[in-house]
Amino acid sequence: MASQFITFEGGEGSGKSSQINLLKSKLIDKGIDVVCTREPGGTPSAEILRELVTTGEVNKWEPMTEALLMFASRHEHTKNLIIPSLENGKWVLCDRFYHSTYAYQGLGHGLGLEAMEALKKISIGEIEPDLVFFLDIDPMDGIKRTMGRHTNEDRFEKMDISFHTKLRDAFLGFSETYSENSVVINASQEINKISDIIFEEIEKRFKI
Ligand code: TMP
Repeated sequence: MASQFITFEGGEGSGKSSQINLLKSKLIDKGIDVVCTREPGGTPSAEILRELVTTGEVNKWEPMTEALLMFASRHEHTKNLIIPSLENGKWVLCDRFYHSTYAYQGLGHGLGLEAMEALKKISIGEIEPDLVFFLDIDPMDGIKRTMGRHTNEDRFEKMDISFHTKLRDAFLGFSETYSENSVVINASQEINKISDIIFEEIEKRFKI
């Protein structure tokens, strides 16, 4: 069976990691070899960059530095984990990919999509996900969900609500430009219901 590269995008607290874990078990039950990974991060070097951008004060980086760090991490991750896994016939489930940089740094921080597209081209070339799930949630509800988490990776969550609202609009916009290879899911639904919708979509598209 051909390998597939599936990414999960959405605002804070949209439930991406829970859905990735549920999907992983369902794919394993079908005999599929799965690699679950995340961005920023996913390899030891990329995880070092993750810590730099996800912790500390909101204003600690210039927006462009932040974007460069995201793509630096993505370069490491794509070259050393994503591409080799796909070449070995594995399915890769990735918690965020370049659409997050387009949303957070491109539209959230206002760097613009043209600049982000240029960075993408230089750092990871033409690679595209086979399918993107956009988990859509009201930013207020999403942020509330993250409140109970005990983590110091809260730099983006601390950004104001107008920033998070821009992200939601950005992701919904990308789902339209990427419509053939993406699905928007209402992430305020019950967790198993969302997982069923995701799995049905995958069964249908990839004929598993
Ligand atoms: P996570 O909490 O979903 O693991 O993601 C870590 C944070 O990094 C999250 O707040 C979103 C942010 N982020 C960006 O700003 N740009 C990116 O390109 C990526 C991948 C994540």
